[in-house]
Amino acid sequence: MTFTYYGHACFSVNTGEAKLLFDPFITPNPLASHIDIQTVEADAIFISHGHEDHLADTATIASRTGAPIISNWEIVSWFGKHGFQNGHPMNHGGAWNFPFGRVKYTTAIHSSGLPDGSYGGNPGGFAVQTATAAFYYSGDTALTKDMELLGEEYSLRFAVLPVGDNFTMGPQDALRAAKMLRVNKVIGVHFDTFPYIKIDRSAAVKHFADGGVELVLPEIGKSFAL
Ligand code: NI
Ligand code: MN
Repeated sequence: MTFTYYGHACFSVNTGEAKLLFDPFITPNPLASHIDIQTVEADAIFISHGHEDHLADTATIASRTGAPIISNWEIVSWFGKHGFQNGHPMNHGGAWNFPFGRVKYTTAIHSSGLPDGSYGGNPGGFAVQTATAAFYYSGDTALTKDMELLGEEYSLRFAVLPVGDNFTMGPQDALRAAKMLRVNKVIGVHFDTFPYIKIDRSAAVKHFADGGVELVLPEIGKSFAL
């Protein structure tokens, strides 16, 4: 699998069979100004919740690629009203066999209002089981014991977790999440984009290392194998 970071909580996982894009928020992010969104590929676009900082570039990328939008019922319906008819609605605890793997929409403790004030359902994350490996993206969330259930169910190669604090878990709770998820590698996202979520990167990495878990804080625009 190849992981590419596009800044904030936007990333793609190339499974070898499909390019899965998560929470596109690139053009409004000054830290990602060197990313040309015309080059961002997607066979499916996953939206964890309705906040602008997770879906700003969805329409642009979905229009160009034709990729279906996968999210909760309310968000997929909202995009449907804006002309995107090939989305796939889900809700918590439900899973579906897509061509690239089985995806479960998972619990998140957060909020989910859409940019125009529409109701965006409840926020979530995604556990993705492909033919070769499983991974989990929590979306914006607090630490929750529900993560223990995912650790029991899946043999996760890595987890993508927010570490920016204030709006989501910070590094302390993200390490506790990693333990519940039984992962030894975490890709940290949702940090440094805004003043409220600036973190001490080296302190976060050390905190994880002291707990026996590798924390990767990726460079925007870089790809690496997982
Ligand atoms: Ni949010
Ligand atoms: Mn967010």
